[in-house]
Amino acid sequence: MDWGMKNRMARIIKPDTGRAVMLAVDHGYFLGPTTRLEVPRRTIEPLIPYADSLMLTRGVLRSSIDPGSGANVVLRVSGGVSIIGPSLSDEGITTSIKEAIRLNVAGIGLSVFVGTEHERQTLLGLAELVNQGEEYGIPVLAITAVGRELEKRDARFLSLCCRICAELGAHLVKTYYCDDFEKVTESCPVPIVIAGGPKLETELDALEMAYNAVQQGAVGVDMGRNIWQSDYPVPMITAIRAVVHENYKPKEAHDLFRTLKDKEGKKAASAS
Ligand code: R5P
Repeated sequence: MDWGMKNRMARIIKPDTGRAVMLAVDHGYFLGPTTRLEVPRRTIEPLIPYADSLMLTRGVLRSSIDPGSGANVVLRVSGGVSIIGPSLSDEGITTSIKEAIRLNVAGIGLSVFVGTEHERQTLLGLAELVNQGEEYGIPVLAITAVGRELEKRDARFLSLCCRICAELGAHLVKTYYCDDFEKVTESCPVPIVIAGGPKLETELDALEMAYNAVQQGAVGVDMGRNIWQSDYPVPMITAIRAVVHENYKPKEAHDLFRTLKDKEGKKAASAS
């Protein structure tokens, strides 16, 4: 791996722990103003100091993130579909490699849709993006089995998806957590991060999922809704960091969440 590629990977996966806390805030690219991400700057800004990297589109990056914020960016470069359109899998590449370089990103990410009618176009899109990423030293994150493919998320299907992404040259793969998740991580020769999926009932549930994923071989999370749809996003991302980077057990991380949440509550009460 060349210096530039290694340097960018180190901006995503922290070398001291070998783990990654990515904050996913790209949902608007097909969902529009998602609940609690209606005003991107308002949601994202307080979380920047706690995220190793942000995953987002160029539109939200330019409009809503201060270039001096110090945020590392994994740029979503696929899209072209919407939640109300005919097919969520019919994605193409939306953003050029020149644009990614101009924006000084740490990585680029696209979705692939294995097992759908758009499998070929999205997998060839991945392969082409890897060709470009290799040329300029930019890691490629392949996002697989996210979205409506949710119902198919067992270890057999996710292993197949992740392995194909790795074979095509992805440097990092994002998928969902599932039962027997170690089968997915074992058979994928590149690092895996998990998406959180829709908000779970409690913060403890999300902390348990993140804990199980990293203990079973994931390098971390690329999590969105379970952080910023919490009533206490900063305490939640802090607790997720403790799980990912410090191997906190779910209950310990939840205690940390509760302590920080109570502090935040008291601060708000004394300010009003
Ligand atoms: C992926 O395609 C989405 O745009 C999100 O980046 C992904 O689902 C992760 O976010 P969440 O944890 O909310 O599922």
